[in-house]
Amino acid sequence: MAYMPAGRQLGRAIVLAAAIAAAATPALAQESLQASRWDEAIRMPEAPDLNPDPHIVEIELEARVEPFEVEPGLIVDAWTYNGMIPGPMIRVNVGDRLIVHFTNSLPDPSTIHYHGLRIPIAMDGVPGYSQDPVKPGESFTYDYVVPDAGIFWYHPHVMSAMQVGFGLYGAFWVEDPAEAETVAVEDELVILLSDMAVNKQGELEDPNSGGSAGMAFGREGNHVLVNGKKTPQLLARSGAPQRWHIINAAKSRYYKLDLGAGFTFTRIGGDGGLLEYSVEEDFLVLGVGERADVIITPRGASGEELMLRSQLHDRGYGSTELRSIQDLVAITITDQPEYAGSPLPEVQLTIVPYSAEGTIRREMELTLDQDAITKRFEYGFDKVPYWKARPILADLGDTQIWTINNTTPWSHPLHLHGFFFMVLDENEEPVRPYEWKDTVDVPFKETRRLLVRFGERPGTWLFHCHILDHAAGGLLTAVHLALPIEDFKPFGAGAH
Ligand code: C2O
Ligand code: CU
Repeated sequence: MAYMPAGRQLGRAIVLAAAIAAAATPALAQESLQASRWDEAIRMPEAPDLNPDPHIVEIELEARVEPFEVEPGLIVDAWTYNGMIPGPMIRVNVGDRLIVHFTNSLPDPSTIHYHGLRIPIAMDGVPGYSQDPVKPGESFTYDYVVPDAGIFWYHPHVMSAMQVGFGLYGAFWVEDPAEAETVAVEDELVILLSDMAVNKQGELEDPNSGGSAGMAFGREGNHVLVNGKKTPQLLARSGAPQRWHIINAAKSRYYKLDLGAGFTFTRIGGDGGLLEYSVEEDFLVLGVGERADVIITPRGASGEELMLRSQLHDRGYGSTELRSIQDLVAITITDQPEYAGSPLPEVQLTIVPYSAEGTIRREMELTLDQDAITKRFEYGFDKVPYWKARPILADLGDTQIWTINNTTPWSHPLHLHGFFFMVLDENEEPVRPYEWKDTVDVPFKETRRLLVRFGERPGTWLFHCHILDHAAGGLLTAVHLALPIEDFKPFGAGAH
């Protein structure tokens, strides 16, 4: 618990004490099994909480240009929150009220979108539907109650291919104190994966490089970062479990995580909290915007090194050629005695899928076309790019099944704002283990089916590809929920 701020530690201790008193059973050990500075080189600073109320987290985020060292000797003028890449981690307990005082000191307008959070539309950070863009020199206060536990993230929603590419993103960790007993892994780490494009002159790459073909592919950065660092170090005690909360915050890059032969990931959670039950995976594929909650158990002799790598993942035409496997985290086994604790409790959760009764069905095609005259590529839902799009209509209480057919040569990680969905199999049964998602990969030339329910919170909620170039290139629409169609304002440039 060394890295917890005192207030949080106390909060958790009180909750635990209450739980223990109520259950009158002995508590599980809640002590770190790791060496004292095991995560020092990788852990992200948290945004300081300015509010003394234990159930209110109040922070300041300033977007500003600051020098950032991509690797030793390579310094770029990056776009940062509070001077850091990633921005400071937002860390709250589920049910807390979060207040974010956002100041924009960038040369361009910006906003903050809280990816995956089921919050009111006015807090969603989308210009035109949630708020006006926050102009340079202006401020905006976000203020809401955090509804779900899990690992989320935040980023701008104005020209996001550029702004995220330049460094604006941060982790958002929502803890459920009850998981101290149901998951019972004390050593937790948040891992935010991203990349940055730096050109030969040592400056941030032009976000329009490669023109419309660059957009169609989705521009990847040439420097892969883990919590803002290149291949940071992590210490591990052999045999001791660690719980990792992983976020793919890159703007186009997929990751296929691999711990090497003999090691697996016990995946216990995804985008929207814990799974129905855990699954063992050799590789963990994360599309852009997706998250995973996993338990890993490094093993080895003292001084041995394990490497967390990203293997090549085929996300479509040209995506694996001339690419290399990336080293992400170098894990060194400490000289502590091998840990041989009792097995961890099985993670089990009752998740009740939305009933598919009375569902409204929608079919959508993801399309890529080239203009006969300008030769420019244009993505769309059913051949309609966002600037001409009409929204998907929904009423409060609707359950909808969306069948999404990707006709394009590239995969698209589609993200729905404000609501969770379930992925359905070919028989329209929710995929087991059940899990709540807000971002789903629709691989090239494949079809995915989603079950989504719009229970509350009228508004215009975006649905778009999280390869941010693809969104800018047209692959963006919205759900216009419980609002008259006459009120629909066409998507403005920059809403992505
Ligand atoms: Cu992560 Cu529309 O965003
Ligand atoms: Cu896409």
